[in-house]
Amino acid sequence: MKIDSLCVCNLDKVLEIEKKCFSDPWTKTMFLSEISSKFAWFFTACEEDEIVGFAGIRCVLDEAEIINIAVLPEYQRRGIGQMLLDKLIAFAKEKGASFVSLEVRKSNQAARRLYLNNGFKEIGVRKGYYEKGREDAVIMRFDAEKFS
Ligand SMILES: CC(C)(COP(=O)(O)OP(=O)(O)OC[C@H]1O[C@@H](n2cnc3c(N)ncnc32)[C@H](O)[C@@H]1OP(=O)(O)O)[C@@H](O)C(=O)NCCC(=O)NCCS
Repeated sequence: MKIDSLCVCNLDKVLEIEKKCFSDPWTKTMFLSEISSKFAWFFTACEEDEIVGFAGIRCVLDEAEIINIAVLPEYQRRGIGQMLLDKLIAFAKEKGASFVSLEVRKSNQAARRLYLNNGFKEIGVRKGYYEKGREDAVIMRFDAEKFS
């Protein structure tokens, strides 16, 4: 398993993973706009030259926010999500972040468990944050003192 920076030439594969993993997937335009931002970075997880997962993070001043982490359903529960999260946390540390935050659907037990196991705390709820499949978002935060 290899983690690399996302190359735009692989965006179609990322879009395929996005569609398989989310009920309200980002479009190509949304990805292109985020990728072109100087504050956002995306990474891919490759197994035998196949992209099987990706993750993105925004870093502005000392604040980092996880944009997304997704692993193809048939590759889940094999430690790939963990590897991508490790990469994002290490990257945020390198960028001098004092904390890493994110929003996650309340019903997304897999992701909430992954973040809780890695030192994130649930610090609040945004009511009805997700419009499609209306649902609350849980706000999670990882503080700099947890950086290894
Ligand atoms: C969340 C996600 C990225 C996890 O990826 P993964 O490769 O399956 O995760 P890992 O195998 O590295 O698992 C790491 C830990 O996450 C937790 N976890 C992962 N899947 C889980 C599940 N289905 N149920 C409960 N806990 C789960 C566990 O604590 C697991 O550790 P363990 O295997 O030692 O119990 C993956 O489920 C996914 O792509 N989901 C769809 C997209 C998504 O919801 N992304 C998050 C948006 S905020």
